[in-house]
Amino acid sequence: MGTSVSLDLAGRRILVVGASEGIGREFAAAAVGAGASVVLSARRAARLAEVVTNAGGGRVVCVDVTNDDSLDALVADAVEELGEVDLVLYAVGSASLARLVHCDRAMWNQTLSINVIGFNQLAVRMIEVMAPGGIIAVLSSETSAVPRDGLVAYAASKAALDASVKGWHAEHPEIRWSCVAVGATFPTAFGTSFDMDLVGSVMDQWVRRGLLQEEFMVPAEVAQHLLAMYASALALPSVNVEHILIRSPSPTIGTGNA
Ligand SMILES: NC(=O)c1ccc[n+]([C@@H]2O[C@H](COP(=O)([O-])OP(=O)(O)OC[C@H]3O[C@@H](n4cnc5c(N)ncnc54)[C@H](OP(=O)(O)O)[C@@H]3O)[C@@H](O)[C@H]2O)c1
Repeated sequence: MGTSVSLDLAGRRILVVGASEGIGREFAAAAVGAGASVVLSARRAARLAEVVTNAGGGRVVCVDVTNDDSLDALVADAVEELGEVDLVLYAVGSASLARLVHCDRAMWNQTLSINVIGFNQLAVRMIEVMAPGGIIAVLSSETSAVPRDGLVAYAASKAALDASVKGWHAEHPEIRWSCVAVGATFPTAFGTSFDMDLVGSVMDQWVRRGLLQEEFMVPAEVAQHLLAMYASALALPSVNVEHILIRSPSPTIGTGNA
């Protein structure tokens, strides 16, 4: 007989960082709905409180992942709430839209600090408090393999994130490390601060390069897929979702769409 897998997460203890918006928010709400004990974390308390109210459960712990004291407090509060942690999802992401010649040091620092260093400093603190067989997962991007014009700093940060996850796996194989490259997903807060004139001009280049899909994924569906995948992995300790890509099946606009 094969092993049957339940998507019921009752008794599972989950920390979602980046739970105030987008995919992280949908994932955290779905995890609460599936019966998990969930700590929801990001910078904005009011947004997190709204998610908890709408989901009908979960505990808010604010964090700024660029600040070590804030990360210390997050992990202490998460442990107080959850005890050992079965699953961490790092759904934090930040991108500025700018061509490389306009990416100054501050922009690079911010992108790397949030997308890469924040994750690594969280991982330093989480490895001691993970349950046996626990999973630490990150959301990366398909752009780490093929950087888009105007998003190269972001793509470079995600490539560094991918390499970090591989490195953590090598140094701490007692934990399951998981990296999900995500394709275009809408609507989320990603890109809401982009200069719309520049968006138009870089998108022309993405189309010419065959990099823009006709349709995007929907955050709630991405979150449901991730939740089912990790519920399954938590039930099957011999399986790890090491590195995968999830993206819309839609064709691309322009090149490659012949
Ligand atoms: N949407 C897409 O098309 C797409 C495509 C590929 C990959 N991804 C990746 O998937 C993940 C989720 O994307 P999304 O579009 O759902 O993101 P989003 O809507 O922009 O949400 C990002 C989350 O990160 C949190 N955050 C940002 N800076 C933070 C900081 N310094 N400390 C703590 N939390 C911080 C934000 O909360 P606060 O502002 O409240 O702190 C928010 O909850 C990201 O890693 C993104 O790079 C997204």
